[in-house]
Amino acid sequence: MCGIIGYVGNNAAIPILIGGLESLEYRGYDSAGVCVLNKSELQVVKNKGKVIEIKNDKRINLIEGVCGIAHTRWATHGEPNEINAHPHTNSSNSIAVVHNGIIENYHSLKRLLEKEGYIFRSETDSEVLVHLVEKFYRNCSLGSAVLEALRLVEGTFGLAVVHKNKNEIIAARRGSPLVIGLGDNEAFLASDATALVKYTKRVIYLKDNEIAIINNKEIHIKNFDGENVSLNVENLKLEVEQIEKGSYKHFMLKEIFEQPDSVKRTLTGRLKNSRIKLSLNLQDIRSIQRLILVGCGTSWHSALIGKYLIENMAKIPVEVDYASEFRYRRPLVVRNDLVVGISQSGETADTLAAVREAKLLGANTIGLVNVVGSSIARECDSGIYLHAGPEIGVASTKAFTSQVTALLLLALYLAEIRGEKIEENLFRELENLPKQVKEVLSEADNVRKVAEKYYKSSNFIFLGRGINYPVALEGALKLKEISYIHAEGYPAAEMKHGPIALVDENMPTVFICTKDSTYDKIISNMQEIKARKGKIIALVNEIDPRLSVLADDVIFSQKTDEFLSPIVNSIPLQLFAYFIADLKGLDIDKPRNLAKSVTIE
Ligand code: G6P
Repeated sequence: MCGIIGYVGNNAAIPILIGGLESLEYRGYDSAGVCVLNKSELQVVKNKGKVIEIKNDKRINLIEGVCGIAHTRWATHGEPNEINAHPHTNSSNSIAVVHNGIIENYHSLKRLLEKEGYIFRSETDSEVLVHLVEKFYRNCSLGSAVLEALRLVEGTFGLAVVHKNKNEIIAARRGSPLVIGLGDNEAFLASDATALVKYTKRVIYLKDNEIAIINNKEIHIKNFDGENVSLNVENLKLEVEQIEKGSYKHFMLKEIFEQPDSVKRTLTGRLKNSRIKLSLNLQDIRSIQRLILVGCGTSWHSALIGKYLIENMAKIPVEVDYASEFRYRRPLVVRNDLVVGISQSGETADTLAAVREAKLLGANTIGLVNVVGSSIARECDSGIYLHAGPEIGVASTKAFTSQVTALLLLALYLAEIRGEKIEENLFRELENLPKQVKEVLSEADNVRKVAEKYYKSSNFIFLGRGINYPVALEGALKLKEISYIHAEGYPAAEMKHGPIALVDENMPTVFICTKDSTYDKIISNMQEIKARKGKIIALVNEIDPRLSVLADDVIFSQKTDEFLSPIVNSIPLQLFAYFIADLKGLDIDKPRNLAKSVTIE
């Protein structure tokens, strides 16, 4: 949520800042701005809209300088317009700030500063920061002034500050990620390491309550108590190709087609001779009484599938909660509970807070996270990295199938510890899974043809049962997110208790009806829709004469073990949503109002 990029070195700052904004645009894209120092002057250009607006702004070509900061915004306080765009500057234009997060006490700080004569221009919470820094910047370093300012601030921030006379960037973090990149006589700052990989692989992840003073010669990090922190330089295991679209039209399509590899990477080294190898350093794993799976959005859907998997295989009760609900409902968590935080980004504010809450209550915690070194990964006692590779499209695809794969591994691991018997065939199917994911992708052309028939519909229902009910939820969510078509996912039998009232000859219903233990029941549900003249799109993995009568259109999935079916079944639905949005000519990788990484509550 909001992307920050900074550069200080000997090269022109603008191309680096604009390139960085383009890489970070998935974090927010309603306005963007840059600020570069030149001859004791701050040159600021801001625009409403996507990064392309600022890239094409003629004023950008006039900017020179080798030190600057930039920001791409996802609006919280104040509508997306040029004034509310970051960087924010003080009245004398000597200090500029970019901020990601929310300043919760900004009202009271603003009142206080206004009484002292500071003049506000924007409606944002972030603007208080620049005036606070100005207030404290008296006979001290810029870093000390930022630290003093932050002592008054409640809420979350990842921020960067520059002063017109200093070739340095001050960065500070509480709750919103920041990573520093080290070059030769140059340094970079970004919300996400993917923006840095073009320039350097040597990075330092700033931790919560740390402040960094960055110039082209050295980096100094202190905690908020003013104590020096030693620099922990890590090597990025990321290649430039991983963050480029290549020949694909959209990142989302690339990521859908990457799934044979991403699923394989999630499995690699963890499955051998029907045994699961996970390095979970948890005390008393045998005495776990209950698991609580928490996540948001798509990650919550994989949690729902995880419940089926773990309860069925390991025979341990599982609860699933939206992270945002869990953290505020005073959950009853006890010592032998294991709380699993599921997150692609590892930065979702609610999931992070839920994990922290669980730890406070004495539970063991595991993170199922994609982004290495992210906050949730660091916070949890132990974890399973997804290794899906960078996911840039805002709508999650490959991270979802890797999450479900990781939950499968966790279920099998717990089953083994508990002495629960697992059919040998499941392990064979699991080894074969990347191949089946590849097979299901060969259905893409047919999915596109079906999408062509339905892309003008205004509403959809997605129905599934059992372990494929969350797949129906995910199918509906994908469609909503990128095509702006209203879609609802339901357990197929529940359809009779309300949604059936919506069915008429214009309403398409997508049925997930691959052969499993609930197959015959779902065929009955289909008949109920057909009787009301609803259009039926059936996702199947076997030819059934009954379906040729009932279904208007058929999409093929693969035959696999029921426990693995959510992984192969979700892929045609990702493609379906993608093709519908593409046929509608929408900006698939940057759907309106959304952001990839939600670092605010
Ligand atoms: C946002 C994204 C979703 C994602 C959710 C949770 O809403 O747009 O695609 O599922 O956040 O993100 P996480 O990184 O925690 O999985």
